[in-house]
Amino acid sequence: DWTMAAYRETKVAEIREQVGDGRVICGLSGGVDSSVAAILIHEAIGDQLTCVFVDHGLLRMNEREQVETMFRDHYNIPLVVVDAEERFMAGLAGVTDPEAKRKFIGAEFIAVFEEEARKIGGADFLAQGTLYPDVIESVSFTGGPSVTIKSHHNVGGLPERMNMKLVEPLRELFKDEVRALGRELGLPDIFVGRHPFPGPGLAIRIPGEVTKERCDILRKADAIYLDEIRKAGLYDAIWQAFAVLLPVKTVGVMGDYRTYDSVCALRAVTSTDGMTADVYPFDAHFLTSVATRIVNEVQGVNRVVYDYTSKPPGTIEWE
Ligand code: XMP
Repeated sequence: DWTMAAYRETKVAEIREQVGDGRVICGLSGGVDSSVAAILIHEAIGDQLTCVFVDHGLLRMNEREQVETMFRDHYNIPLVVVDAEERFMAGLAGVTDPEAKRKFIGAEFIAVFEEEARKIGGADFLAQGTLYPDVIESVSFTGGPSVTIKSHHNVGGLPERMNMKLVEPLRELFKDEVRALGRELGLPDIFVGRHPFPGPGLAIRIPGEVTKERCDILRKADAIYLDEIRKAGLYDAIWQAFAVLLPVKTVGVMGDYRTYDSVCALRAVTSTDGMTADVYPFDAHFLTSVATRIVNEVQGVNRVVYDYTSKPPGTIEWE
């Protein structure tokens, strides 16, 4: 792609100019954006870059292994993986307000990055895969008064005082452009085509209090849902699909027993940039078989519902 080849060259030059001989820490989330940002920056400044992947315990099934394989084996880019599950879970204990969750997670990410920066003798810059829609949505709602809809953790959620300057080479791009740039940089199709995943991870898909136990339940339900979507050949037709674990228990019956367990909601939308979205119209048989599998295989869930809300008025994530 001619445009992306040119963009790549321009950005590589800009990154070199901005960074000079400074050191950069890049936070990887497992998503396409931060991966593309890291690969681009690595091309520009090589081993002045340290990639840090924070395992906050809010990742999807097998996500950490996939990211490790991709960076170490495919690109040969050194990767620091930080086990931070305990401290994130401790900080999230008792937190139920969506913005409070995002603020805590954003601040904790920065704390981890700063610690890692100290270990390598200091870093001057923090790199992130912030996209244009993240910038807009964290600042104002188009057409209305200036209101923060959500503090995206890689924009508004950062603490005011941070000793590193930001490097954000994707700030002008939309998702489809980031994917084109990823292909240009040799990212495998399977990675380029991955559904977006928010930095705050499963925390914003568990309304109410986040615990390790609830994350484990959600991970299982989510993996079954995505497995069925892939088997049905629908993955690439969908912008984003995921499960949400609700803080609501309902009564059910399994065999001869009464159950009293959580409700799981399924979300799937089509979109081109995440700014607006339509509900993906699965056929009823598909949803029925996913619901059956989840209730049968995931202990702690006894009811499954489907979210029929477009964006607007809903947002894609539930928090
Ligand atoms: P919403 O829920 O605002 O989401 O309709 C729009 C898109 O943005 C993703 N998202 C995030 N991505 N950090 C991110 O990197 C965040 O804090 C964040 N919050 C939402 C969301 O998954 C969807 O693709």
